Amino acid sequence: MLDRRRFLRALVALGAARAVPLRAQASFPFSLGVASGYPTPSGVVLWTRLTGLLAPVAVAVRWEIAQDEAMRQVVASGSTEASPEWAHSVHVEANGLEPARRYFYRFTAAGAQSPIGRTRTAPAAGSDPGRLKFAFASCQHYEQGYYGAWRHVVADEPDLVAFLGDYIYESSWGRDHVRKHDAGEPYTLEDYRARYALYKSDPDLQAAHAACPWIVTWDDHEVDNDYADDRPEDGMDRESFLLRRAAAYRAYYEHMPLPERMRPQGPDMRIYTRLDWGALARFHVLDDRQYRSWHACPRPGRRGGSNTVDIEECVRLSNPNRTILGRAQERWLENSLAESRAGWNVLAQQTPMAQFDQKPGPGRRAWTDGWDGYPAARKRLLDFLAERRIANPVAIGGDVHSFNVNELKLDFDDSASPVVASELVGTSITSQAWPQVRLDQYRADNPHMLLVDSRFRGYTRVEVTPTLMRVDLRAMETVQRREAACGTLASFVVEDGTPGPKRA
Ligand SMILES: [Fe+2]
Repeated sequence: MLDRRRFLRALVALGAARAVPLRAQASFPFSLGVASGYPTPSGVVLWTRLTGLLAPVAVAVRWEIAQDEAMRQVVASGSTEASPEWAHSVHVEANGLEPARRYFYRFTAAGAQSPIGRTRTAPAAGSDPGRLKFAFASCQHYEQGYYGAWRHVVADEPDLVAFLGDYIYESSWGRDHVRKHDAGEPYTLEDYRARYALYKSDPDLQAAHAACPWIVTWDDHEVDNDYADDRPEDGMDRESFLLRRAAAYRAYYEHMPLPERMRPQGPDMRIYTRLDWGALARFHVLDDRQYRSWHACPRPGRRGGSNTVDIEECVRLSNPNRTILGRAQERWLENSLAESRAGWNVLAQQTPMAQFDQKPGPGRRAWTDGWDGYPAARKRLLDFLAERRIANPVAIGGDVHSFNVNELKLDFDDSASPVVASELVGTSITSQAWPQVRLDQYRADNPHMLLVDSRFRGYTRVEVTPTLMRVDLRAMETVQRREAACGTLASFVVEDGTPGPKRA
């Protein structure tokens, strides 16, 4: 016993138990790239994940942040270790940086150096940075296209990217595949890790992560289509599904530039948070999957999952106790909004918020997976925005793989009801959408939807100043080729103090 303890102590002293040099290994350990996220005025999260490792041992990783791209003027550095329990991922919370500054960073491990990433810190609290340029995007089915849209995001040089869900897809579907998932649907931690590694092997996605800091939220496909809290759409029992959710959340943490406070515990992972860009903008980053009430009126024969229902027939839909954020997050959001001193309040979330009537003529049909499935929760939020006169609320979202530009109203059925906020729904990076003709038949029933266009894949580019938000809907010519062109389909503005988008 003593001998064994002494032996272990000796190993630790040598550093052998904690860090093993892997020069012997042939493959490049930074094959998944680098990323940064969640900038504050004094710091930022740096991420990488080492690959190609055979031994299940911790690996020493050195990180450096510099003022220059050549990495000569290093202003912060340190060492950490990548542990096999977390798939050799690295999450460094670098601190002591200057506000509103561009920085460069890299990692060294296993005798190799990572690519150099660019990042930046947020402006000082309460300061006016004059301008914020950000991009938001969602839904990047790997099989359905190349990630050429990310090339155009990189060319725009945004200060920040917000990714709003469906970073991976668990299943194979759609037409015109340009490449294939290398495995079936993931259930275990190993399965999800492999799926993230496949998606993150894409060079255009890596370049976008290396270009600027990201903030992220998830939607359903990071776990399973149409899940709601602990309920999957299929018949999997609760206990098994929570094990699956725990695996999926853990793999998500391992592959995103998330702060330590978001590290998951079993099936629970708090990713909702806020981020301030000086006095100009506050991002309220929401999670409308983990805490939501189960879907109302699922399809016949199913216990969960979305449906499109006649609102007269699905009585449960309008139950005032139904929640999409969960009570705790709802309270948190109200506080975050009420305390905000920002000129713009951006609700960064995953699913469409505006009412979308899918029954031409009298009556209304609603899809239950977005906020239309939780009308009481939506009304609570919109009432709060109006009553508390929250400054310039703008919801950004994804999920439906089409551009939607909407007025958010207290009563969508009343043309005289005031517009209280703006909504920008971005199209998908690659994921396929309903045909435009299907959407067009609903246009007359939804006059608060100023634009509904499912024809293009792409992203949304936003520029915020104290007086104006300018929005460019960026549309790819095709996702069948990496180097395809990208154009601006339409531009909108939101003016300070006037809720609702207007065509630019
Ligand atoms: Fe999606």
